[in-house]
Amino acid sequence: MAQGWSRRRFLQSTAAMAAISTLPACSLISASRKTGQWEYHLSAEPSHASLVPGHQTDVLAFNGEIPAPTIRCRQGEPVTLHFTNNLNEPTTIHWHGLRIPIEMDGVPFLSQAPIQPGETFTYRFTPPDAGTFWYHPHMNSVVQLGKGLVGAIVVEEAAPVEFDEEHTLILKHWHLDRQGNWKDLAIPRYSARMGTPGGMGDSEWSHHPEYTLQENATTRLRLANVDNTLTYPIQVRGAEAWIIAIDGNPIATPRRLDEHKIAPGMRVDIGLIAPKAGKKVEVMYMKGRFPFLLASFITTPSTLIEKPLPALPLNPITPIDLANAETRHFTFEWAGAITPADKQGKGHHEFWLMNKRAWEGMSKGNIPEPIATLERGKTYIFDLKNVTQYHHPIHLHGHTFTVLEMDGKPVTPFHTDTVLLGKNGHAKAAFVADNPGRWMYHCHVIEHMKTGLMGFVEVV
Ligand code: C2O
Ligand code: CU
Ligand code: CU
Repeated sequence: MAQGWSRRRFLQSTAAMAAISTLPACSLISASRKTGQWEYHLSAEPSHASLVPGHQTDVLAFNGEIPAPTIRCRQGEPVTLHFTNNLNEPTTIHWHGLRIPIEMDGVPFLSQAPIQPGETFTYRFTPPDAGTFWYHPHMNSVVQLGKGLVGAIVVEEAAPVEFDEEHTLILKHWHLDRQGNWKDLAIPRYSARMGTPGGMGDSEWSHHPEYTLQENATTRLRLANVDNTLTYPIQVRGAEAWIIAIDGNPIATPRRLDEHKIAPGMRVDIGLIAPKAGKKVEVMYMKGRFPFLLASFITTPSTLIEKPLPALPLNPITPIDLANAETRHFTFEWAGAITPADKQGKGHHEFWLMNKRAWEGMSKGNIPEPIATLERGKTYIFDLKNVTQYHHPIHLHGHTFTVLEMDGKPVTPFHTDTVLLGKNGHAKAAFVADNPGRWMYHCHVIEHMKTGLMGFVEVV
């Protein structure tokens, strides 16, 4: 029975790259589902894709495919991923948002040796949380992610939650011209600001998928922003849409989706009931005041009767103990305002600071000091202050924040692995340091991370 259920879910799984290019695809990597085991073979390799209609682009792709295969697995069940590096440079794979042991976190030097070209590394873990997550390399990220090594991970609930329809959309702009040639992935002038956007300006074009939905279908849309740079303010037209999960984590009381911003690294799960046949549901994002289509869904006749959306069980995040919590302060600053941005024209840029430090870089023999050392089992409140003009999605590996306050106002607590700080934004986010190891802690605008806004915390 479970088999039939999961099979059906596999077939419904779709992935798309959106805006500039939203590619419809449905690709399942060779998965052998043994009892209680999910096993995958995954590789990273140079490949080609038609991202601009009529043109071929050299890309870096998981299993040679754009978009990358969506990995499906189940909460509380072990997953094995045999990963082979067929790139001509080292890499590692990080499972964004999964609270798994440090050895499997996929960060070079901190959690494992870089996987050299031709080598295979087997990742094994058991995801404790259900939801929408994603995977990507954690080396040479501007290029490796920018050129296509980004994919979705769907962790099904331990006790099946059934939606009639489910679609996964992965959102990415490509840094391409109209002939499908690569443009600069990182231009320092932009790295020091909002980051270098792909596919913008007067060459704006877009390719978005069209799907169908059965009328009355309870529908779950999983959106993941895998872009290096851009934030998508998401809206849905044509149906009453609800936010049911933020960054993989279900929210206790779903709320109406008016507009919800997902910055690089972030996800949102949207629930809706498909309207009557012949209607259209559109997922849009706003660029300033202008709406852009990401994907559309045409409804078709069905025998489904209208019913409420299923509720998602909350994830088993370790409860925070605010009475005994310790506060740690983090200030995110623009380095250009303090020190000369460029170190003796070495081509190495430090534009951003976390607590007055720009990431020193890391190698086998040179691991910098942690930005914070935390005691295992203790609750910490991270007081996050952005004193810059640009927004920063601040991401912590291996743990899940409970956000308590945004811009000085208390919020209904919600769980996330990435906190979006707006321009001069301020947030308070707590978590129990319950996962021992050295965990990356960085802005997920990839150029910000690569030009200073990165560090790691150590849980001992
Ligand atoms: Cu998406 Cu360091 O991670
Ligand atoms: Cu991560
Ligand atoms: Cu940033």
